[in-house]
Amino acid sequence: MKPLLVPDPFAGGRDVLRTLESRASVRHFADVSLSEAQLHRLVEAARRAPTSSNLQAYSLIRVTDPQTRRRLAELAGEQRHVAEAPVLFVLCADLARLDRAADMTGVRRGSDTLEALLVATIDASLVGMSLSLAAESLGWGSCMIGGLRKHTEAVAQLLGLPPRVFAVFGLCIGQIARRPPQKPRLPQSVVVHSEKYDEAGQEAGIRHFDRVLAEHYRAQGRSSPDDAWSRHGATLMSQRPLAGLRGALQRLGFRLGDAGASAPERDPSAHG
Ligand SMILES: Cc1cc2nc3c(=O)[nH]c(=O)nc-3n(C[C@H](O)[C@H](O)[C@H](O)COP(=O)(O)O)c2cc1C
Repeated sequence: MKPLLVPDPFAGGRDVLRTLESRASVRHFADVSLSEAQLHRLVEAARRAPTSSNLQAYSLIRVTDPQTRRRLAELAGEQRHVAEAPVLFVLCADLARLDRAADMTGVRRGSDTLEALLVATIDASLVGMSLSLAAESLGWGSCMIGGLRKHTEAVAQLLGLPPRVFAVFGLCIGQIARRPPQKPRLPQSVVVHSEKYDEAGQEAGIRHFDRVLAEHYRAQGRSSPDDAWSRHGATLMSQRPLAGLRGALQRLGFRLGDAGASAPERDPSAHG
């Protein structure tokens, strides 16, 4: 890979709004490496993401080994960009560290609940989104890879994850070789409610969006009846993507129980 020659790689970082407004998932990357200093700073910035009760129940794994990359690409469902992106991080929900903290302090382990799994998954997702946004603010591209959950246990084994750690998604980062067109989004009126959830406009809004998306794909020179968002989404759900995840998570040590008193969210400053 050619090194990236930029005098100040952080100069001219775009503002957050413009970055968000212009983003789209990138799946074609230039064969250009990003410096360790750049990546370190991106990760440090991403780690400022909010985290439930300051628990920081996540881990990030950077994967560089080409063989591991190829295997991950395969496990994600033959996703070429997983092997080819200049940088790949895997965002993991991590309850092992809190179990260790419990053992170190003699407190009873409390990682055996569905709430703990959600906390860790949300923490990992927020850091992942922040990392993606940080990369995009520099004009780089990124793509999240939830396909890794097709084979959660195999991914855990490949990455040497201890019990109660699982890969929530991968994150490809790199210089953009091909900038994809932005995909339209559902109208605000469908996804944003005022005061109370309002189902009244849902069907009309969905039908409207089906037409918008079909037009978008026609403009790209590709269209099929399955491009309608409603059919695509419903079909995907009915095919039960990632069926078996619950069993896989349980075998990886996640208990998904209701045990224990549900503690209210505490001010992290209370932890000293
Ligand atoms: C949690 C998550 C998992 C995703 N998994 C994949 C994936 O495995 N492969 C992929 O190419 N894109 C993946 N994506 C990207 C979505 O396909 C993309 O965000 C969506 O189609 C909207 O397109 P846009 O991001 O370009 O606006 C994922 C996105 C999210 C949020």
